[in-house]
Amino acid sequence: MVKGLYGFLTLGVLVFTGGPTHASFPLELNPPRVVVRYGDSVSVTCSTSSTDYEGMGWEATFGGKSLEQDVNVVTWTVENLTDWTIEPKCYINLNDGEQPSIVLPVILYKTPDRVSISVLSHSGPMVEGTQYQLQCDIQNITPRQNLVVKWYKGNKLLDIVTYSNVSKRPEDVSATLMISPNRNDDGAQYRCISELDLGPEGPQPHPTVTSEPLKINVHYPPTFSRPEAENHLDIRVGEEITLNCTATGRPTPKYRWQSSDFQEALFTPPSEVPGTYTCTAYNQIGEISKTFTVNPKPKGDRTKFWVIIGFGLGLAIVVVIVYAVVKYRAGPNSII
Ligand SMILES: *[C@@H]1O[C@H](CO)[C@@H](O)[C@H](O)[C@H]1NC(C)=O
Ligand SMILES: *[C@@H]1O[C@H](CO)[C@@H](O)[C@H](O)[C@H]1NC(C)=O
Ligand SMILES: *[C@@H]1O[C@H](CO)[C@@H](O)[C@H](O)[C@H]1NC(C)=O
Repeated sequence: MVKGLYGFLTLGVLVFTGGPTHASFPLELNPPRVVVRYGDSVSVTCSTSSTDYEGMGWEATFGGKSLEQDVNVVTWTVENLTDWTIEPKCYINLNDGEQPSIVLPVILYKTPDRVSISVLSHSGPMVEGTQYQLQCDIQNITPRQNLVVKWYKGNKLLDIVTYSNVSKRPEDVSATLMISPNRNDDGAQYRCISELDLGPEGPQPHPTVTSEPLKINVHYPPTFSRPEAENHLDIRVGEEITLNCTATGRPTPKYRWQSSDFQEALFTPPSEVPGTYTCTAYNQIGEISKTFTVNPKPKGDRTKFWVIIGFGLGLAIVVVIVYAVVKYRAGPNSII
């Protein structure tokens, strides 16, 4: 508590006595800070509200102005700003011997020469479920602390990378992204975008450079659309059936049928041969099998039908005969 209060007081004293923002400070820069693209021109005025001074000027590696008298504005101008570490300073020589000065904050920026995207330690198609590292290389950019790298898959923003280390000179910067693609990512396009967010004084919209898209191919093992390990099929003698072993996979699956040199997804077994048929769909990534058991259609069904019909008819005939006999015995005047 005491420490916090002390800190606050120290800050208050600093602002009050010497801060350039305070009204009593004799110099004012316009604009107060600049953001300049490498090689562009820049011009900043330094003015004073003081009347009690010998002269004022700018001290800088480029565009410096030696002490001028009888002016209340001096301008720092550079046609082609290329000094990465420039710190222009405006000063004033007061009559009391003091020489207050103010340093102009300059952000000199450079957009990258090239932004490229690559897969680290890998080439060719990716395999589903495996992790890969994408790298975005940003060549010759500054300042790094204003750099924002954005990763996209298609139009979807995946990640944003920022940098805390300060740099003034151009350098190569890289960002990485871990991905674990699945089959739906086959053909997906990744991009990285280098963006310089230079604050309110900086250019709007932010200068951006986008990499060429990186298109990925994802390989995955064959799978059946409906998970069926085993299929049982009833087959009637003389009827043709087709066993469907179609699987999806990438690369496109190949097929083999057990004890046969047939190699398509659809197989028509000879109908007079019931039995077990196993097919395997395979590619470079893996394989999957499916077994069809073809049973002959039970022969009994139709016979049973006729047995029931026959039995019913027989029963009806017996009933009619019994009725006729009973009626005959009872005589013609009976009520039955
Ligand atoms: C600016 O300065 C750089 C380095 O001195 C030079 O290569 C470039 O040609 C200059 N550009 C202009 C427009 O004068
Ligand atoms: C950033 O700065 C820290 C501390 O100075 C250093 O350890 C680290 O390696 C720097 N990072 C990069 C990417 O230069
Ligand atoms: C075989 O199965 C696949 C996937 O289940 C399906 O798309 C295809 O139409 C089927 N083919 C036949 C001839 O039934």
